[in-house]
Amino acid sequence: MNIILLGPPGAGKGTQGKLIAQQYSIPQISTGDILRANVKNKTALGLKAREFMDKGVLVTDDIVVGMVEDRIAMKDCQAGFILDGFPRNINQAGVLGRMLEGAGKKVDYVIGIEVDKKALVKRLSGRRVCRKCGESYHIVFSQPLNQGICDKCGGELYQREDDLEETIAARLDVYEQETLPLVAYYTERGLYRAINGAGAVDMITGAIVEAIEKGKHNT
Ligand code: AP5
Ligand code: MG
Repeated sequence: MNIILLGPPGAGKGTQGKLIAQQYSIPQISTGDILRANVKNKTALGLKAREFMDKGVLVTDDIVVGMVEDRIAMKDCQAGFILDGFPRNINQAGVLGRMLEGAGKKVDYVIGIEVDKKALVKRLSGRRVCRKCGESYHIVFSQPLNQGICDKCGGELYQREDDLEETIAARLDVYEQETLPLVAYYTERGLYRAINGAGAVDMITGAIVEAIEKGKHNT
């Protein structure tokens, strides 16, 4: 089962992706996480990607497409995967479709997590992430037990460079211009399922699972 999680910055793609991945025992593939790992390790790819990420704009398609192609070819993706943050524009969606078709696969569900802009800004500006394991927290909505320290691994919590106010605004604009057209793209193909991303995390997970299970019965 191959799932795309679509939604603006801060919608909860990372949060929900982890939970859905556990539920269906398939990996979550976050292009943002892979890029950040490359930036952290100062790889050639990371050095190229960083200037785009810090400005809140999309990294070039060639960088991201190659990354996804390599990841999807791995053994743990055989039974399916959850894409978080890819595709991000119409070109990437087209490339993904062809890539999967070539491998005898397809996109089964596109789950669109919908949250209003005001809430997105609140979520992003208050987000804190573990430097070591990548776990996400929020200074109001999802506090760690000990301030500044990850509950899971004891790592230090930090604020993502692109979660500063100006960069958040740029990312939301980029989403509207480049990524939002994917809602129509996947609606036309009968794959888009809108999920209300406001409310408690577990309620939203429940709604996503329900949409997937309903889709299974209709095919
Ligand atoms: P990426 O890492 O994908 O960032 P994003 O799309 O901007 O999304 P976020 O990770 O910020 O938000 P999220 O939806 O995962 O929300 P989260 O669950 O963390 O991309 C970063 C950059 O990499 C891009 O700008 C670009 O440069 C580059 N890039 C990545 N993919 C690319 C691609 N395909 N092509 C080109 N460039 C690419 O939640 C956010 C916060 O809200 C957290 O604090 C969380 O605790 C909290 N929260 C979650 N759910 C709830 C809830 N229900 N109620 C209250 N709070 C909640
Ligand atoms: Mg994320």
